[in-house]
Amino acid sequence: MDGKRLVLIGAQWGDEGKGKIIDWLTQDVDIVVRFQGGNNAGHTVVVGDDKHVFHLLPSGILHKGKVCVIGNGVVIDPEILIKEIEQIFAKGYKVEATNLIISDRAHVILPYHKVWDKLKEERLGNLKIGTTGRGIGPCYVDKFDRTGIRMVDLLDKDIFKMKLKVNLEYKNEVLTKIFEYKPFDFQQIYEDYLYFGEKLSSFVKDAALYLAEAVKSDKKILFEGAQGTFLDVDFGTYPFVTSSSTLAGGACVGAGIGPSRIDKVLGVAKAYTTRVGEGPFPTQLEGDSMQHLQKKGNEFGATTGRPRRCGWFDAALVRYAVDVNGIDEIALTKLDVLDDLKEIKICVGYEFEGKRYQYPVSDFNFWSKAKPVYEEIAGWCSETSSAHSIDDLPDNAVAYINRISELIDTDVKIVSVGSKRAQTFYMNSEKEIK
Ligand code: GDP
Ligand code: IMO
Ligand code: MG
Repeated sequence: MDGKRLVLIGAQWGDEGKGKIIDWLTQDVDIVVRFQGGNNAGHTVVVGDDKHVFHLLPSGILHKGKVCVIGNGVVIDPEILIKEIEQIFAKGYKVEATNLIISDRAHVILPYHKVWDKLKEERLGNLKIGTTGRGIGPCYVDKFDRTGIRMVDLLDKDIFKMKLKVNLEYKNEVLTKIFEYKPFDFQQIYEDYLYFGEKLSSFVKDAALYLAEAVKSDKKILFEGAQGTFLDVDFGTYPFVTSSSTLAGGACVGAGIGPSRIDKVLGVAKAYTTRVGEGPFPTQLEGDSMQHLQKKGNEFGATTGRPRRCGWFDAALVRYAVDVNGIDEIALTKLDVLDDLKEIKICVGYEFEGKRYQYPVSDFNFWSKAKPVYEEIAGWCSETSSAHSIDDLPDNAVAYINRISELIDTDVKIVSVGSKRAQTFYMNSEKEIK
C-alpha cells in the first residue's frame, strides 16, 4: 500500500473486525492512534490462544517497539483504562510512557455521565438508542457544552476541584429534580479521579505535537477508528448513532493532524452485516438464517455481550461509506462465516415508496420502510479458514469478493478468514504499507 499515514475505519455498524486488522497492520507501522469514541468500543485481537479485547488502548499495543496514542477526540474512562493497562501488563506486555501517549486534551468520563446515559435511555421510549451505557454521549455533550473535564485537568488538583464543583452542582440538581435520582458526592469523585490522574500522569502529553514531529520524521502512522460509518453522528442512522465522528475525517480533528498529512483510507467491512443496539437495519435476517450467522460468526458484543443482529452484505450501504470516507481500499473480514451457505444474497439498492435507490437516504421513514433489492450469488460450501492467498479460495468465494468490489467500486485489498493473525492475507501478495 502506498502512503505513510493510513486511516482505518469501519464501513458498516461497527464490529467489522477493525481490531484484528489494526493488530495485523501494526507490524508495518511505527505508531497507532485511536482518535474517537471511548470504551463503547470493543476491539478484539487474538494472538495464539489468547484473546484480548481493547476498549481504550489502541489495538497495536501488543507489538514491541511501536507507540500507541490515545488522541484528543477520545473520551476516557480512566478507571477502565487503568484496568486495561494492568491486564495486559500482567500478561507480560510493556505499557510505559515510551509506548503509550494519552492526549492531555482528551475528555474524561465521570460517574455522572454513566448514570445520565442510562437514565436518559429510560426516558426515550421508542427513540431509545440502545447505548452501551458507558457515558459516551453525555461526556461528548459536556465537551461541546464547554463544561467538560480533560485529562490535563486531573493533573491539577485546584483546577479539577473548581471544574468538578461547578459541574456537580448542576448535575446533582438535574439528577435529583428531573430524574429523581440520588446526588453524587463531590469528595468521593474528587479523590478517586485525582488518584486516576496521578496513575496515568506519566502518559499524558500533547499528543498532537508528538504526531506532528512523527510526521516530520517520516514515521508510518495508522489511525484506528472505532464504531463504524453508520454510527457516525452525521452520516449514520441518526438518532441511532454514537456521539462522535466515526468517519475517516474524524481522524484529523480527533488526533490533531491535517488532512494533507493523510495518504490513504482503508475501510473494514464484514462479508455480511451486523448491528448491535437499536436502529434500522434493512438487510437484517430473522429466524434460522440469522441464528446461523450469529452462531458461526460468534456475533455477541465484545463490550456488552449483547447478541448482534445479523443480515446480508449491504453493498448500497458500503458504497455510501466509500464515498463519505473516501475509502481507497477495503479489508473484507469474516468471509469464513459464509462457508456453509448454498446461496448468499447481496443488497444492491433499495425500494422505497415505489422508487429505486442506489444509496441510503437520510429520511427517518426511509430507514424504517425501505426494502432491500437483492442479487443472489452461489455459495462455495467449503472451508476457507485455512486460506493463505486468493489461490486457496474456492472460485465462488472469489466471485463473491469480486462482485462486492464491483458493486462498491473499490478494491478489496485484504481478506480475513478467521480471528487469528495468520488468517489474513492481501488479495495480491504485496505486503507492506509503503
Ligand atoms: P471491531 O470492533 O471492529 O474490532 O470488531 P470486534 O472485535 O468487536 O468483533 C469482531 C469479532 O470477529 C471478534 O470476535 C474477532 O475475533 C472476530 N473476527 C475478526 N475477523 C474474523 C474473521 O475473519 N473470521 C472470523 N470467524 N472471526 C473474525
Ligand atoms: P466498535 O468500535 C458496535 C452502538 C451501541 C448503540 C450506539 C450508541 O467495537 O465497533 P454509545 O454507547 O456509543 O452511545 O451507543 O452505538 N455502538 C457500537 N456498536 N460496535 C461498537 O464499537 C459500538 N460502539 C457503540 O450499541 O447502538
Ligand atoms: Mg467491537
